[in-house]
Amino acid sequence: MTCRPAILEDGPAIARVGVAAWKIGYADILSPEYLATWREDDLLARWTRGFLADPSVLVAESDGRVVGFSRHGPPRDDDVGADTGEIISLNVDPAHWRGGHGAALLTAGLDRLRERGYTRAVLWVLRDNVRGRRFYESQGWRPDGTERRCALVPDAIVFEVRYERSLQVGRPRDRLLA
Ligand SMILES: CC(C)(COP(=O)(O)OP(=O)(O)OC[C@H]1O[C@@H](n2cnc3c(N)ncnc32)[C@H](O)[C@@H]1OP(=O)(O)O)[C@@H](O)C(=O)NCCC(=O)NCCS
Repeated sequence: MTCRPAILEDGPAIARVGVAAWKIGYADILSPEYLATWREDDLLARWTRGFLADPSVLVAESDGRVVGFSRHGPPRDDDVGADTGEIISLNVDPAHWRGGHGAALLTAGLDRLRERGYTRAVLWVLRDNVRGRRFYESQGWRPDGTERRCALVPDAIVFEVRYERSLQVGRPRDRLLA
């Protein structure tokens, strides 16, 4: 199992993993009609245009094949401090769930945020995404009490919650204990 920065040629594999992770991971949360609008070629076009040249996109490989990807970066919310980075997306091929790839990508993303001087991180996850929330909680993340309507899903009322954790080694719960 390895994690490395994505290259342009990873685009089709990232699109495949992203669509599969959403369609299976969100099958109980989002409507089949909405999930049917997620298409590999759209995702490929969006990521190739926007993100793939960006070193903050990481991929996880198993036997030389891309099985997951993540993206991290500066915070997109204006109510968090400049000390706070963000995990923007994280998806693993359903055929490889519970193989440790999600944790490896998350750790690699947090290491890179730490290297860039961030001391805290946030991420957004769908409120009803029980699998995702259990995963993040197992990795030391906790809800910070912020909730909003998810803009990605325009035709349904779907909420997402923000999670946070400290990036100071060994002190993931600092803020909760403060
Ligand atoms: C959430 C997701 C990224 C987890 O990836 P993964 O590779 O399966 O996670 P890992 O194997 O690294 O799991 C690490 C730990 O998280 C916890 N965990 C992961 N999946 C879990 C589940 N379904 N139920 C309970 N705990 C879970 C476990 O503690 C696990 O350790 P263990 O397997 O040794 O018990 C993956 O399920 C996914 O892509 N889901 C669809 C998209 C999504 O929800 N993305 C995140 C929201 S933005």
